[in-house]
Amino acid sequence: MKITGLNAGCMKILEVKNLKVYFPVYGGFLRRLKGYIRAVDNISFSVDEGEVLGIVGESGCGKSTLLKTLALLLSPTEGEIFFYFEENPIALHSLDKSARISIRPQIQIVFQDPFSSLNPRMRVWNIIAEPLLLHSNLPKEKVKEKVVEILEKVGLKEEHLYRYPHQFSGGQRQRIAIARALILHPKLLLLDEPTSALDVSVQAQILNLLLELKKSFHLTYILVTHNMGVVRYMAERIIIMYAGKCLELGKTEDIFKKPFHPYTHALLHSIPRLRKENKRKVILLPGEPPNPMNPPSGCPFHPRCPYKIEICEKISPDLQEIEKSSLVACHRAEELNLEGIF
Ligand SMILES: Nc1ncnc2c1ncn2[C@@H]1O[C@H](COP(=O)(O)OP(=O)(O)O)[C@@H](O)[C@H]1O
Ligand SMILES: [Mg+2]
Repeated sequence: MKITGLNAGCMKILEVKNLKVYFPVYGGFLRRLKGYIRAVDNISFSVDEGEVLGIVGESGCGKSTLLKTLALLLSPTEGEIFFYFEENPIALHSLDKSARISIRPQIQIVFQDPFSSLNPRMRVWNIIAEPLLLHSNLPKEKVKEKVVEILEKVGLKEEHLYRYPHQFSGGQRQRIAIARALILHPKLLLLDEPTSALDVSVQAQILNLLLELKKSFHLTYILVTHNMGVVRYMAERIIIMYAGKCLELGKTEDIFKKPFHPYTHALLHSIPRLRKENKRKVILLPGEPPNPMNPPSGCPFHPRCPYKIEICEKISPDLQEIEKSSLVACHRAEELNLEGIF
């Protein structure tokens, strides 16, 4: 399988090769192994330093599992993950416990719902300082200085230090979660639907804050979302995920202008329009996403695909380069000529 970054010559920060993350399912009186949920099923991609890679897909397609595996919170079932630190590849899939602890500050994750990801019994000060206290032995004054500095960077003030999470709005709580993730100056920030739980107006503020922080801290983002608008605003490249697999990967602009996979096409044309006069046809996909314990044979999307032919039911298409830096897993990608938007 081909693995591409955004620009040839860019420094890679992460490389994922044939990653599988399966969860065993037990059942019956004797709690025997009944099968596996294939949350991430053979995914390969790479991320360049400084880029924003978007991961898009319906709920349950394995986006969070993928991010948690990259954040070392879950172990892969199969496959390899290399994180490039000072140009040396570090094999994240086979680290021992002490190596995991030492690499963890470099890769941080921000979750969707800041209310459940922040400890309600801890004050902002403890929430943000905790990673620093765990991973460094700085004197207390220095820790405070760093906490205040990061708090200001995310748009909060020193006076907020001794408050509890419930005393903040949703947007402010997400700012606290971002400050905690950045206090150790990571290289890679994994964002799991960071604005889905927020009001629309606050969403835009947080997205802009993330873009500002990316510049000032020289960060790389992997941004998971099911919102095509968010991904278009933020990401340079997109991975379209479905049933644990990557169906399409390419530059954001290219994918919006000319999608190759019928699923990507349906996602793009399901974006609601605010202006009535713009009568683009909305595509409603029939059926439900597949059961990850018992995925369909052949292409995982074929039961819902309006363009399926016989081969789609039998053979799972490989992810192949169709144009420069565009990869797609569809038997009919070249002949369909699907319409993009804008
Ligand atoms: N810890 C777990 N144990 C068992 N199944 C899980 C676990 N975490 C996620 N899953 C299952 O894996 C699939 C993918 O879940 P998830 O990664 O959360 O999807 P997404 O973030 O795209 O909504 C779902 O079917 C979900 O039920
Ligand atoms: Mg999720």
